[in-house]
Amino acid sequence: MSAVDVTRTQVGIVGAGPAGLVLGHLLHLQGIDTVVLEDRDREYVEGRVRAGVLEQGTVDLLIEMGVGERLEREGLVHHGVELRFGGEGHRIPFDELTGGRGITIYGQQEVVKDLIAARLEAGAPLLFDVEDVRPVGIDGDSPTLHYRHGGEERELRCDVVAGCDGFHGVCRDAVPDGALTFREHVYPFGWLGILAEVEPSSDELIYCHHDRGFALHSMRSPEITRLYLQCEPDEDIERWPDERIWEELHTRFACEGWSLEEGPIVEKGITPMRSFVTEPMQYGRLFLAGDAVHIVPATGAKGLNLAVADVRVLAKALVQWFSTRDATLLEGYSDACLLRVWTAQHFAWWMTSMFHRMPDDRDGFQARLQRAQLAYVCSSRAAATSLAENYVGLTRMGGRLEDQIV
Ligand code: FAD
Ligand code: PHB
Repeated sequence: MSAVDVTRTQVGIVGAGPAGLVLGHLLHLQGIDTVVLEDRDREYVEGRVRAGVLEQGTVDLLIEMGVGERLEREGLVHHGVELRFGGEGHRIPFDELTGGRGITIYGQQEVVKDLIAARLEAGAPLLFDVEDVRPVGIDGDSPTLHYRHGGEERELRCDVVAGCDGFHGVCRDAVPDGALTFREHVYPFGWLGILAEVEPSSDELIYCHHDRGFALHSMRSPEITRLYLQCEPDEDIERWPDERIWEELHTRFACEGWSLEEGPIVEKGITPMRSFVTEPMQYGRLFLAGDAVHIVPATGAKGLNLAVADVRVLAKALVQWFSTRDATLLEGYSDACLLRVWTAQHFAWWMTSMFHRMPDDRDGFQARLQRAQLAYVCSSRAAATSLAENYVGLTRMGGRLEDQIV
């Protein structure tokens, strides 16, 4: 039997999604060695269609890190959003309500492509197609990632492991039973999302409340429209031929003087809606970030932004620890992130509850509450400001630890 190939690094990062790649690049810029292990191939990771809304803080960080060149050129800056209900649209002007702030539309897979290119250009190790990653010894001083690559057993000895491997990853499960607490809420619906090769029908996003269920109009570029429909949580995509999707979209978005343009559908998928938080976000020398520790329903457009916010805090804490062996920030990592996580969780839950048809709403009580809430948001400057400042991203969370770190 051949000997196991053993290598060493300072931070072993599991997962090449936004969390793992941003962390890897931030640490690389500070001269800290990292190895990123990803179980899918590069084409799959770069082609996975997911988020599209970047908060200003996320954009600023990507630019500061030197990976924002294409984002600045191709990203679509939006200064408002439309809330549509009762067949009428109401604009929430982000810039006016938040002192000039906005969001940028730029596909998550484009962010991932830019980060992968930067990592490869820097010559930093990133292994695709790894199999069977197992974190071992996370409660000791030398946690190790066991894995297989190219048919060979390998070991990566680390000072610290960063679990950035998403909701279905292995790192969270490596923590002994009872050491973490999980809090979860599963919503009784999902989203059917499509990408269509057609010019967006509106310059801004449209969040639409309708008796038949929620619908969202978004985009990826001046040529590509992204659309979502509320559906059953266990929906079978086969039941949704293109004609049915367009018919349902036309019905839900119906609004005097506005029409939805159709085009060839090039991508289709179902996403469940769930809220999930793991506390704390660390155990021994394992630090968890992004979807590996929290999931927010997509209605608030917060998942990717939270993943980036986590690793920004983690990178700062690791730099302090590696340069001075002072563990104060590292020990406070979880507390520093959780206030932002729960605030985003509340916003996403509120948006989700306000827009979706509730399956158990037999007499329309909840639909009436939703309409009243929507009308209030669109008529009160205070309520609209609350939506706007959460949507563009809160800068000061009041969390002293996060303030100290970032
Ligand atoms: P992931 O992107 O899941 O990355 C984890 C990586 O780890 C993956 O590459 C995976 O292949 C890899 N991995 C998993 N297991 C292993 C293993 N055992 N070994 C090695 N590698 C492993 N967020 C927003 O902010 N704005 C939005 O507009 C938005 N819209 C969304 C729309 C949809 C339809 C969906 C599904 C999500 C949306 N999100 C949005 C959420 C956002 O996409 C996620 O929060 C984000 O991907 C989290 O990044 P991550 O790096 O933590 O996890
Ligand atoms: C998207 O463009 O994919 C998108 C936009 C807003 C959301 C969720 C997803 O709330």
